[in-house]
Amino acid sequence: MFATAVPGLARLAGRELETLDGVRVTGYGFDGRSDVVLLDVDRGRRRQLRSVRTIEDLFAEVGRTLRTDGDRPHWIASRTWQPERVQRALSIWAEEAGPLTPAITFRVIARVLQETSFLRTDLRRELAAAVSRDKRKWSIADPARLEVWISEYAPGRLVAGIRLSDASMRQHRGRVTERSGALRPTVAAAMVGLAGPAGGLLLDPCCGSGTILAEALAAGWEAEGRDADPAAMDVSRRNVPAAAVKVGDARRLDLAGASVGACVSNLPFGQQYDVQGEMGQWLAAVLAETARVTRPGGRVILLAPQLPRSVVPAQLRMRERHQIRLLGTKTTIWAYDRA
Ligand SMILES: C[S@@+](CC[C@H](N)C(=O)[O-])C[C@H]1O[C@@H](n2cnc3c(N)ncnc32)[C@H](O)[C@@H]1O
Repeated sequence: MFATAVPGLARLAGRELETLDGVRVTGYGFDGRSDVVLLDVDRGRRRQLRSVRTIEDLFAEVGRTLRTDGDRPHWIASRTWQPERVQRALSIWAEEAGPLTPAITFRVIARVLQETSFLRTDLRRELAAAVSRDKRKWSIADPARLEVWISEYAPGRLVAGIRLSDASMRQHRGRVTERSGALRPTVAAAMVGLAGPAGGLLLDPCCGSGTILAEALAAGWEAEGRDADPAAMDVSRRNVPAAAVKVGDARRLDLAGASVGACVSNLPFGQQYDVQGEMGQWLAAVLAETARVTRPGGRVILLAPQLPRSVVPAQLRMRERHQIRLLGTKTTIWAYDRA
């Protein structure tokens, strides 16, 4: 099997996947649009993959090949569409999507890392032709009931599979109300995962529509949010009624020292939301507050393109950081231990 994740999130998705019994990560890649995680899953252990919160899509693999074995789209298509493995993948698909009728609509999605020997669209056409030769009653449509994906997940290495997931995998339970600047739920889940095992209260001091709070609750934390914008309160209350949210300023939190187990936040960075005053001073004030309210041994996890050392207080010790790409823009998840 294989899964896709937001660019830069594969290792964190792999970490979550490896907590599951009978699941082994066998490799990582990037297909130009998404990170790719290759998996071995023991028979009877697939269902639990539905609960994974850091992946965007899940696929039942039908074949793998190398460009060095013949770099023509026609050959690649016939090497990856292996009818025996296809049958196995289709039975996994039918467990998720319901019975497979003989006449079904399908479409092919192809992603390649370079187009010197052929175009991505040539590979898509040849794979669709290979599918049609094998499954004569299937017809091409868009949208289609079944999606066949082929991804060059590392230079010269391709994997093909049948998509098992739908949008609910990446949207989780979805937001009742949208607000601009909302975080992708899989990224929020990865950030909450970095906060460590659930223990007490998790605070998002710039909670917006409440995506991080929803993930915190799902992971077993109690969740509280603050946001400077009163309009965000209506949205976050609707999206996460079980979290306590209030208007508040992340630079001056109304919470006692060492009162929360973790602070997790997607900071405003001048794209949809601006900070008040000079950025360096704003960040220094917010990080000082997160360090003050987080108990020693807790963690502070922040999403921001840059956090210069000069804004990080001495009580926060860098644990790890992950550069990711959201809507084509580079940003970073910063994880600190509260000393
Ligand atoms: C990038 S958005 C957060 C989006 C959120 N993670 C979500 O999924 O909807 C940043 C938020 O910071 C809020 N904000 C800006 N300045 C603030 C401050 N001084 N204190 C608290 N919140 C602030 C903005 O109103 C905005 O909702």
